[in-house]
Amino acid sequence: MKHMSKLALFGLVFGVMAGSNSAARAQGMPVNPNLAKRGRELFLIRSCDACHGIGKGRRAGPDLLGVTDRRSQEWLRKWLKDPAAMLASDSLAMQLKDEYKGVSMANPRLTNSDIEALINYLADATRKARK
Ligand code: HEC
Repeated sequence: MKHMSKLALFGLVFGVMAGSNSAARAQGMPVNPNLAKRGRELFLIRSCDACHGIGKGRRAGPDLLGVTDRRSQEWLRKWLKDPAAMLASDSLAMQLKDEYKGVSMANPRLTNSDIEALINYLADATRKARK
């Protein structure tokens, strides 16, 4: 009996650890569902989808699947606030500029809350596409 319960405890702890690891990997940043919903609307209204797919390959701009994993939220905030300033000063942005010759993203003129909504949407769409 004593032996059994130790085994059960081990199984439980191991299961929880394994579960939380894969959950963290699949989820990335925590998502606020209301912001994600608003971000999805903005992504369409502001025609981001004209240049960006999410998991559908590159268009005029990079595919945004996983962008919230490969960039920090801080980087994304700065990018969406002022792409031109980033293209002139940030090494990652300069690499993108080299890769996407001919088209540069114009300043989308977003408010800070629009930017938060869009970042939540990108994280949410990434998570859903990977399920
Ligand atoms: C006219 C086409 C165009 C539109 C419209 C556009 N983008 Fe972009 N975007 C680009 C290009 C091109 C790049 C790559 C950097 C560069 O050359 O300017 C980029 C880069 C990005 C990146 C960084 C990608 C990475 O891999 O780090 C994000 C995030 C992004 N755009 C989000 C948006 C959002 C959100 C909108 C809508 C508000 C939007 N873009 C509208 C063309 C566009």
